[in-house]
Amino acid sequence: MMNSMESFSLTTGLLRDVFRYAKPLGHNQQPGKLNLGFGFIYYGIVRAIRPKHTLVIGSGYGFSVVCLALGIKDNGEGSLTFVDPSYSLLKNGPLMTVGGVNKWGNQTKVYDHFRQFGVEDFVKHYKLRNDQFFPLYESDKLPGIDIAFIDGSHSYIDVKYDFINIVKHSHKNSYIFLHDTNLYIREMIRHSGVKRWLKVIRQYPDYFEVLDFPFDCGLAIVRVLQDKIWEPT
Ligand SMILES: C[S@@+](CC[C@H](N)C(=O)[O-])C[C@H]1O[C@@H](n2cnc3c(N)ncnc32)[C@H](O)[C@@H]1O
Repeated sequence: MMNSMESFSLTTGLLRDVFRYAKPLGHNQQPGKLNLGFGFIYYGIVRAIRPKHTLVIGSGYGFSVVCLALGIKDNGEGSLTFVDPSYSLLKNGPLMTVGGVNKWGNQTKVYDHFRQFGVEDFVKHYKLRNDQFFPLYESDKLPGIDIAFIDGSHSYIDVKYDFINIVKHSHKNSYIFLHDTNLYIREMIRHSGVKRWLKVIRQYPDYFEVLDFPFDCGLAIVRVLQDKIWEPT
């Protein structure tokens, strides 16, 4: 019999719903085998380190948000802040988003979307761009960041901006995920700059430990090694 404190969300039905409604885009997933690919890493790291505050910048259908929030729910502690201005490829064009589907335009629909996975009470959505969100950080009294996930605009300038601002609110042993480290052609034509940004932070081994998974669209995990705020030179 399950103790009332015990919670494990990853049933077959839930995994099917994640594939159906949170539609992973480039996370090395295998739908036919109900294999969430990197999604298991997102869920697993939350269970392993039990973050108080997780921040996600950008998501097409909420796959990263749902996997992380399911971990928070099963831990029984923590909250997730999700920042996405709800761009769509059709409306805003390929310079603003690749894969954006205007999923986050309506507050009630956002709540109902996350309710399908039972994580609606753990997720707070800001319908803002990264550069509108970070200036609100202090006035909204947001807590420090234990885990962050960068998957918004993939331009070098935005990835750099997201990373630097996340580090400002992080601490020793915060973890920062960067999705899309393996977009060879888009990096080559300068449409994406995640891989290029990773090269920069690898030059600071006293500050950051970097691990890359170059499968499918690619995923990197960065561990912050110091409490001291990092200023890129
Ligand atoms: C579609 S996702 C990329 C696909 C992603 N790999 C996934 O698995 O969902 C990109 C999202 O980032 C959002 N986005 C684009 N520019 C942004 C910005 N400047 N700040 C925050 N989010 C942004 C878009 O609205 C879109 O929903």
